[in-house]
Amino acid sequence: MKLGVCYYPEHWPQSFWREDARRMAEIGLSRVRIGEFSWSRLEPEPGRYEFDWLDEAIEALGSEGLEVVLGTPTATPPKWLIDLYPDIMAVDRAGRPRKFGSRRHYCFSSETYRQESVRIVSALAKRYGQNASVVAWQTDNEYGCHDTVESYSNNALRAFREWLMQKYQSPEALNRAWGCVFWSQEYRSFEEVDLPHLSVTEANPAHRLDFQRFCSDQVVAFNRLQTQILRAHSPGRDIYHNFMGHFTAFDHFDLAQDLDAATWDSYPLGFLEQGPWPSAVKMRFLRQGHPDQAAFHHDLYRAVGRGRWQVMEQQPGPVNWAPYNPAPLRGMVRLWTWEAFAHGAEVVSYFRWRQAPFGQEQNHAGLLRPDSIADVGAAEAAQVAQEMAALAPLMGCSKAEAAIVFSYEAVWSLDIQKQGASFDALELLMAWHSALRGLGLNVDLVDARQDLSAYRIILAPSLPIIGQNLAKRLLESGAILVFGPRSGSKTEDYQIPEGLAPGALKGLLPILIPRVESLRPGHSESVEGGGAIERWLEHVTGEAETLAATTAGAPVWVRSGRAHYVGGWPDAALLNRVLERACAEAGIETRRLPEGLRLRRSGTLWFAFNYSAEPCDLGTIAPETAQAMFVLGGRVTPPAGVSVWRAR
Ligand code: GAL
Repeated sequence: MKLGVCYYPEHWPQSFWREDARRMAEIGLSRVRIGEFSWSRLEPEPGRYEFDWLDEAIEALGSEGLEVVLGTPTATPPKWLIDLYPDIMAVDRAGRPRKFGSRRHYCFSSETYRQESVRIVSALAKRYGQNASVVAWQTDNEYGCHDTVESYSNNALRAFREWLMQKYQSPEALNRAWGCVFWSQEYRSFEEVDLPHLSVTEANPAHRLDFQRFCSDQVVAFNRLQTQILRAHSPGRDIYHNFMGHFTAFDHFDLAQDLDAATWDSYPLGFLEQGPWPSAVKMRFLRQGHPDQAAFHHDLYRAVGRGRWQVMEQQPGPVNWAPYNPAPLRGMVRLWTWEAFAHGAEVVSYFRWRQAPFGQEQNHAGLLRPDSIADVGAAEAAQVAQEMAALAPLMGCSKAEAAIVFSYEAVWSLDIQKQGASFDALELLMAWHSALRGLGLNVDLVDARQDLSAYRIILAPSLPIIGQNLAKRLLESGAILVFGPRSGSKTEDYQIPEGLAPGALKGLLPILIPRVESLRPGHSESVEGGGAIERWLEHVTGEAETLAATTAGAPVWVRSGRAHYVGGWPDAALLNRVLERACAEAGIETRRLPEGLRLRRSGTLWFAFNYSAEPCDLGTIAPETAQAMFVLGGRVTPPAGVSVWRAR
């Protein structure tokens, strides 16, 4: 476990650097990420590199024993570069070229930009690849941030046609797969295919899904160019990328194949404001963040990093970019940090060291204020640093008993034809994850392609494309399986499967879904025994045993052997019923936690995190704490408090 910080030496006079480094070490930070936006300083003019300042900065940090994570600067191609090669620029959905003046203005399909990236990354890798203070690299910064995975440039068009040719070989095959006979969309050659934008009404969904797959592959390929160079010149160093929250526009599992660990940027209050939760929830957790929001991403990125992951940017105070930006409740920066460590994070790194008095993020807090006085976040980071020594030896991260299958392609597929405006795939996944956490469980998110055999219960909240192979692996896992709505409802080519949904799942579940409907907000169908279906309702027919039906008599929760199917969007009460029963069948003990309290088992320790604004007595929730030895906090956890005890 290490603490770190994001630092921009180029923003401050050189005379600050040594003192900054000294103070970082004093707080207990040991890692510093630098450099990721510094191209205009590294190469002020074409081919004229200026590395002296970076040498100095790394030396200043290294002299305090700080480990440096060096970012490649490709998120911000400088002005001279894009003026020299305008075809670097990305084009937005409306066909407008992006302009210079912020960041991420490049197109992943620009060959020129790929070459230029190779050039600058090679120069950096050669110079710092063997530097003793440089322990790791970060490629670029937040691929896709500001809606930049998709670009509708001529470069993208050319590359997409090539990608389609590789995939389909003949226009006839493409026409068949996409169902182009519909509305006379048939193509005679790949040269006739356009990007799926600016059509009069919605573009063909299979066209859109393939475009999304293509865009994802472009990001992966762009990243791989960098990792190959870094591996060649900087052996023994980790390579990371900092992923985002609530972001699914490319397949992170694919990209992370080229990384040593996944890292992500955690801004609990910004994400609460922007997130899908009802206003009452946002009010309740205004200064704490949603109790499951960060945890969901910790669990996701642990899977993306194949067990190795970090928080590269941790919110240290108010941010600048959400519609409203409150300050965290006193103690939350510490709580967020411990929540990450309890989920297995190797490093939690705060964004940023000192608040910037210029540029776009002037109202974004740092550990220090712009006048260099330590802000609240610095004190909380220092507290964690002190606490770490006692806890580190007792912690560990083992496989959870419960897993949720996460598929980027599933999210794309569901978003392409939502059918109901409120069917939000990520929201559904987060709601199911939240429900499991609310039952006191550790949860793993898993890639459908990964080994599933270790779990006692596996949930697939919605997995439209399920091949025979996955269905077979799920069956062979031996776990209790719970499938949610729309699972098995599409083929690879985005068509309704022959014999209808749930397609390949029919081997597990003898059911048929002949019709689905979406429900407007405010309308729900109550379910006998408690709870309701909202947003989405399926007509479930077939041989499976009905475990719950709507009061109108329509089965919505059925089971056959070890597989359950929920034919709709369950509200919290129904979801709890389903999960409690499925967990019981799997032999997993559950407990219902109060809304703001969360538990996490880590090695020999139990953590309790209090996200609510009132103290919480653990006595009734975790009776075992009566005799427990607390390593941190006690039986009553204050608001924003963390209690840790040794498991028996
Ligand atoms: C992240 C980004 C940082 C900074 C930060 C502000 O998305 O990686 O560069 O902009 O947000 O919260």
